[in-house]
Amino acid sequence: MRLKERVAVVTGSGSGIGRAIAQIFAAEGAAVVVVDRVGDRARETVSQLTEAGGKALAVVADVASARDVEAIVSQALQVYGRVDILVNNAGLALGDDILSITEEEWDTNLAVVLKSVYLCSRALLPGMIERGQGAIVNIASVNGLNGLGEEAYSAAKAGMINLTKNMAVKYGSSGVRVNCICPGTIRTPIFQPDLERDPQLFERLAKWYPLGRVGEPEDIARAALFLASDDASWITGTAMVVDGGLLAGSYRMARELTGFGED
Ligand SMILES: NC(=O)c1ccc[n+]([C@@H]2O[C@H](COP(=O)([O-])OP(=O)(O)OC[C@H]3O[C@@H](n4cnc5c(N)ncnc54)[C@H](O)[C@@H]3O)[C@@H](O)[C@H]2O)c1
Repeated sequence: MRLKERVAVVTGSGSGIGRAIAQIFAAEGAAVVVVDRVGDRARETVSQLTEAGGKALAVVADVASARDVEAIVSQALQVYGRVDILVNNAGLALGDDILSITEEEWDTNLAVVLKSVYLCSRALLPGMIERGQGAIVNIASVNGLNGLGEEAYSAAKAGMINLTKNMAVKYGSSGVRVNCICPGTIRTPIFQPDLERDPQLFERLAKWYPLGRVGEPEDIARAALFLASDDASWITGTAMVVDGGLLAGSYRMARELTGFGED
């Protein structure tokens, strides 16, 4: 068990990637504080974890609200006494390009994706520093590294990557490691509205992926487990790309530029 006797807060773990992280953490021995803005989702994850023999607590909270984040910390401390691992995973992507996105959508992207990392880290870092150990894993995106659209979301994810590096540098000597993961397309409910418009979306996108498929939540959960565990005890400040090869380049582009791989 790689997370035996650890306590982990996983935000947005009522669905998708966060739920898969909560499941693998609980299976590896962690007590998991399942945070989600939607209560039914958080409770469903907790039922799944406890039915499988794990330890979990549901906390309904908006991670973009300082007051809600204080409530997450006080409930986690009341039940488990400390928090060793924080996974900043809650997220959403609103609007498209800067000519069409509303100011309110822009602010919401920045608040839920980026401000939440500041709020949750600010609340949990002091305990980690005091104990001289802790691990923070931020779920960023390939969108934070390249120009792939959804500008507000992508800018917030880029901010998350930089915040990861700054926090890693500042708190490394206190025993706190801070890393992030940059996933490519992962098959989760976040795509529900797109799938209603285009049921073949994932099959279409798979063609861009050198490994021939989009990702599954477990692909990210296994990376998060690695970064949160002692297996990664000398890794901090990294932005681990878990994207089926997407950012390695485009076979289609390579073929057109150089004739590489032509029939
Ligand atoms: N699915 C992908 O292709 C993909 C790719 C790259 C990065 N990501 C990132 O992974 C993370 C998880 O995405 P997912 O695909 O699992 O999405 P999802 O919609 O399946 O799950 C996100 C969860 O976060 C919760 N949430 C949203 N805003 C919240 C808030 N303010 N406070 C608390 N909870 C909140 C939602 O209720 C939901 O349960 C996000 O940060 C997302 O940006 C996803």
